[in-house]
Amino acid sequence: MTTPFTIERVADHVGERVTVKGWLYAATHKGKLLFLRLRDGTGIIQAVAYRPEVGDELFERLAHLGQESSLIVTGVVRANDRAPGIPAGYEIGVEEAQIVQNAVDYPITPKEHGTEFLMDNRHLWLRSSQQWAIMRVRATIKRAIIDYFDDHGFINIDTPILTPNAAEGTSNLFEVEYFDEKAYLAQTGQLYNEANIMAFGKVYCFGPTFRAEKSKTRRHLAEFWMVEPELAYCDLDDLMTLEEDFISYIVQTTLEKRAAELELLGRDLTALRNVTAPFPRISYDEAIERLHAIREATDDPEQKELLAIEWGDDFGSPHETELTKQFDKPVFVYGYPSAVKAFYMEPWPGRPEVCKSVDLLAPEGYGEIIGGSERMSDPDLLLEAIRRHELPEEHYKWYIELRHFGSVPHSGFGLGLERTVAWICGIDHIRQTVPFPRTLNRLTP
Ligand code: 4AD
Ligand code: MG
Repeated sequence: MTTPFTIERVADHVGERVTVKGWLYAATHKGKLLFLRLRDGTGIIQAVAYRPEVGDELFERLAHLGQESSLIVTGVVRANDRAPGIPAGYEIGVEEAQIVQNAVDYPITPKEHGTEFLMDNRHLWLRSSQQWAIMRVRATIKRAIIDYFDDHGFINIDTPILTPNAAEGTSNLFEVEYFDEKAYLAQTGQLYNEANIMAFGKVYCFGPTFRAEKSKTRRHLAEFWMVEPELAYCDLDDLMTLEEDFISYIVQTTLEKRAAELELLGRDLTALRNVTAPFPRISYDEAIERLHAIREATDDPEQKELLAIEWGDDFGSPHETELTKQFDKPVFVYGYPSAVKAFYMEPWPGRPEVCKSVDLLAPEGYGEIIGGSERMSDPDLLLEAIRRHELPEEHYKWYIELRHFGSVPHSGFGLGLERTVAWICGIDHIRQTVPFPRTLNRLTP
């Protein structure tokens, strides 16, 4: 069977007669010529109808089509340097056309629209070239993530979405009724992966994750995708080495496969080419010192206020943003105070107030894309931590039990897909990185 023609492969079809099944993106008229910009989901191509060739009747019908009308066009592909499109430089000379449906009054027009309007029309907005480009980059990043772990000896294991307990704090849990009990939508698959590694060595889960985030930031969604690798016999340094190799692979693969989409988005590709291992590693202590110096150096009173921080505080977005501006690659910050991190992190040897945690902050102001740590391996310390966090002990029995039967040093991390897509695409709000975003104020469409 021959594969049907798609616009993305047009370069292989110059001189051939092809059929495009698609939608009308835009049209312009010039005397006896009609330029139809057609999308087929894989790209955009200019189709040129010449009145004497197609006849008056078809020419008139094509000339009156509304934006987003569906149509099937057949004609010969020719190279033309000046033809716009994705990819640019090709056009089709229309021989035949079948109008499937004439669309009237498509609400998204080339004029500027506000974000709320576009979000209300998300089901249509996805057809616009920028949104289309972002989703194609997203799909490529997802594929690169899976390939990386599958090619590095990890087993893909699925973890439950309905869970009886919290893992990443209790303040942002989505509660659901589970027969006669309460359950929560998973904030992470990590705790289950800690069981899985004792059976399989190296595992990862990759799926939707839920956090009832009450804040409206450009970095938070209520439903997002997280990939979580977990490894037995792995310490914090090994983990950072894995993370930098993994991130370099994803970025370089995306550059290779989606350069056209990134260019359409206006992304600075040089900044991405620079994302190669190793990445700088700084301690939380050093990060605090740097932040004090940055704050010292600013004359802007508002910035001074935003950047106020003491040892022991968690970073807010402004802190992460300023820190990442000091580096042209992603930067690791390790050894956070235990009090600002989850209950399961291994204490720093000789410094129990610090934990073996590491966040990876993306450059150009993007901030945290990965959170990870070495996990606590002592069952008694773990029980203490669970009590200190006022978590229901009975739900963590199995988790503590893992430490009784062949406990080993182990580590893992979680990468947020949408934050990664936002950074790689160079767009400033996470809501455009997922087809149908779920946020504090939005569940529709
Ligand atoms: O730092 P977090 O909360 O870490 C965990 O959940 C660990 N259990 C992961 C692990 O070690 N297996 O989340 C990890 C990443 C963040 O760095 C961020 O990229 C993303 O998940 N993330 C969010 N993305 C979008 N919206 C939110 N509300 C997010 N919360 C976390
Ligand atoms: Mg985190």
